[in-house]
Amino acid sequence: MGSKISIIGGAGNVGATTALLLAQKELGDIVLVDLPTAEGVAQGKALDITQMGPVEGFDIQVTGTADYRGIADSTVVVVTAGLPRQPGMTREDLRRKNAEIVKTVAENIKRYAPQAIVVMVTNPLDVMTYLAWKVTGFPSPRVVGQAGVLDTARFRTFLAQELNCAVEDVQTIVLGGHGDSMVPLPRYTTVGGIPLLELLPPERIATLVERTRRGGTEIVNLLGTGGAYYAPAAATAQMVEAILQDQRRILPCSAYLEGQYGLHNVYLGVPVKLGRGGVEQIYELSLTEEELAALHNSARIYRQHIDAISHLWQ
Ligand code: LAC
Repeated sequence: MGSKISIIGGAGNVGATTALLLAQKELGDIVLVDLPTAEGVAQGKALDITQMGPVEGFDIQVTGTADYRGIADSTVVVVTAGLPRQPGMTREDLRRKNAEIVKTVAENIKRYAPQAIVVMVTNPLDVMTYLAWKVTGFPSPRVVGQAGVLDTARFRTFLAQELNCAVEDVQTIVLGGHGDSMVPLPRYTTVGGIPLLELLPPERIATLVERTRRGGTEIVNLLGTGGAYYAPAAATAQMVEAILQDQRRILPCSAYLEGQYGLHNVYLGVPVKLGRGGVEQIYELSLTEEELAALHNSARIYRQHIDAISHLWQ
């Protein structure tokens, strides 16, 4: 068990839940890093998760710290640090504050864990992933964003509920940014190998696509404070596992595009092969004019957000 995983933002809900799920997978020791004001919480949650080991049957160490030196030699660094949404906010409303936080985080990753693969979770996801890539200066395959695994998990859940079938048999792809402009792809959705379009009428599919787009907002409104964290953490843990175990999973992730889908110099959700090298391949699907236009629209939105924070790396 040589791997070390660091979670920056580890005292928060997404970070700590990711730690819990990773501990159960027993992939390696885990370090929760958070602000000095949250160091006790990081240490307390770390100790609490470690003490699950004897009951759950895992044997790893989880520790908490406010000292970035703690991330040295990490194989994977997960970044959940930043503010979550509150009701009435879009993910993009978090841009200014979270960009400052992620900039500092990325500088410390560059300094203390220069060989790590970085899995970004902080919102607005695609913008923060781009920022982390710029500030670390890492090769783009080593900086990847979590969003598509969560968004497809939501779409799969809604489809399985609608069809009253096993959720594991629902496979789908969601492209684009992690926001209202995301592009779920019913045409690339299958249920036990059967194309979705043969199973549901277009208007039902459209309703579930819309619910998926607003999946995070639905939960923000229900919780009343903060965002979802169980499914976001599960999606993050799956990506970390794919990397550490070199599984070469085909998952939708935010990846750096340099020409794919006609898009350049932007991070956006696309199907990738995720393994020990990080993003080992990006898959380019053939899209209808309408799907491609929706993807380009999503890229345009995130491009503007990236431009608005470009002073942070220039
Ligand atoms: C969501 C937040 C975490 O989609 O972006 O729930």
